Amino acid sequence: MKRDFVDLWNIDPDEAWYIVKRTGNVKEGREELSDVLRGKNLALLFTKPSTRTRVSFEVAINQMGGNSLFLQEGQLQLSRGEDVRDTARTLSRYVEGVIVRNHSHTWLEEFAKWATVPVINALTDKSHPCQLLSDVFTLYERFREEVKDIKIAYVGDGNNVCNTWLVAAGLFGLNLFVATPEGYGPDSYYLQAGQDLSNFTGGNIYLTTNPIEAVREADVVYTDVWLSMGDDRDEEKLNALRPYQVNEELLSHAKESVLVMHCLPAKKGEEITEEVFERYSDFIFTQAENRLHTQKVLMEFLFEKS
Ligand code: CP
Ligand code: NVA
Repeated sequence: MKRDFVDLWNIDPDEAWYIVKRTGNVKEGREELSDVLRGKNLALLFTKPSTRTRVSFEVAINQMGGNSLFLQEGQLQLSRGEDVRDTARTLSRYVEGVIVRNHSHTWLEEFAKWATVPVINALTDKSHPCQLLSDVFTLYERFREEVKDIKIAYVGDGNNVCNTWLVAAGLFGLNLFVATPEGYGPDSYYLQAGQDLSNFTGGNIYLTTNPIEAVREADVVYTDVWLSMGDDRDEEKLNALRPYQVNEELLSHAKESVLVMHCLPAKKGEEITEEVFERYSDFIFTQAENRLHTQKVLMEFLFEKS
């Protein structure tokens, strides 16, 4: 049966740790990737902009001996109303896998249902599983087995990345504090999924509206943009989020050794100050680099199992 990666719960905790640990071994040259992608064609179907996800996937596919096709909605019959089922069934006859970035998560679920080849979520309005798989690798690379003991704080908008953090905490058994303003919290479906997984893995998920509480004595502070792709400019939302800016004052409540993460792109002056961003930029760009390493192992895993 084909293996999709539409949400993080499509892999179990053992598989998730296998991917994270193998990514480290491959990145550091201790293990080699298989040639499962050699000669395969993979399509990237994107209806939203992307820098990291697109380039890291295309480079990963090419370095693994495969071929990538970048497909934009406007150039496909999708833009003229061809439906998701027919697009999925057609592409499945040409390519061996499809990586999709799309606004609607339900559209992606429908696409995956009709596609007969593995489908990978490259971000939707609800989730960004490739980002979080890679972010947990970045943390594992730094903290090793202690990653389960550190305090991680997500501060800001309860968006797709925040939703996926909840599932990641459950899947990997992490300690996650999430601070979002009233009315801008994460999706309850993803919270439930994270909590259900935590019952098995020993993860802890704590939600608050108080950013200082989340950040207090934290080892890692993570943030993301306040307005995601597809969101309209919303002054009320921006005002509600101002106390959640990752700045020197907020970070003074964290451990002195705190690390700051950002999935990028950043809107400096909104969710993070330029000063804080630059201080942690080396770690943030290592986080971006790791998308490439993690996605190679993710694709190897999915295609070997499919
Ligand atoms: N973090 C991330 O997914 O970046 P892009 O939008 O540039 O792909
Ligand atoms: N929440 C952001 C993440 C970008 C990688 C967005 O959806 O635009």
